[in-house]
Amino acid sequence: MSVEVKTKRVTTRDIRARKGGEPVVVLTAYTAPIARLLDPHCDILLVGDSLGMVVYGMDTTLGVTLDMMINHGRAVVRSSSRACVVVDMPFGSYQESPEQAFRNSARVMAETGCAAVKLEGGREMAETIRFLTERCVPVMAHIGLKPQAVHAAGGFRAQGRIDAEAEAIRADARAIADAGAFSVVVEGTVEPVARALSAEIAIPTIGIGASAACDGQVLVIDDVLGLFDDFTPKFVKRYADLRPIITEAAERYAAEVKARSFPGPEHCFGQAKK
Ligand code: KIV
Repeated sequence: MSVEVKTKRVTTRDIRARKGGEPVVVLTAYTAPIARLLDPHCDILLVGDSLGMVVYGMDTTLGVTLDMMINHGRAVVRSSSRACVVVDMPFGSYQESPEQAFRNSARVMAETGCAAVKLEGGREMAETIRFLTERCVPVMAHIGLKPQAVHAAGGFRAQGRIDAEAEAIRADARAIADAGAFSVVVEGTVEPVARALSAEIAIPTIGIGASAACDGQVLVIDDVLGLFDDFTPKFVKRYADLRPIITEAAERYAAEVKARSFPGPEHCFGQAKK
């Protein structure tokens, strides 16, 4: 008799326990095939609302809806077995009140099967994070450069260059850690500030454009694979360049269709007998 052993997924508690230990590996994933490929290599698969820009071609993440996040979250959970899956709460789905945040994050968790949600904000979100974590919704916070605040902040720019800003980010980090977040993404924050707050708080910091001293790192998968080139932030490292490969495949396919050399006999059913 063979017994199927299901791989145990990384949990939010496992991530929390990684503070100061082996760095936490995080990539975004939005679709089933990519989730399947990344799952063995990542501790966390983040279904980021960056999907609005890299999958849907939006200029910002502000137009992303709860239904989009749920559909992509479901695909990623279904197609992974090891990584802890975290789903972003989109703009407008949690800022109104702790109750609104609970209602929508409970829906995300129930309908996708993800282990946690991520939301942007520091001190102003501490009450909401406490409300959620006390009601069994694990929360990853997101401070520093907050893409959903792009208009309020006057653009995408690195945070913490002036003392008051640096102090505000450190206060945000302390507030969300005290409120019960299990980890925090620190985005677009000057290195010394990211380094200092990582040393200061008791939960893992996941950097993106932050510091190698963070407890883990995250990148957007389309940036890693060279698929998104509308703009490339300084903090992106491209590990592959898939655009020319896809272009070449499409060119060859188009040429073969036009030349009638595709499909060949091996691709056809029931060849006509001579
Ligand atoms: O939406 C996203 O992909 C993110 C990461 C860049 C951290 O928030």
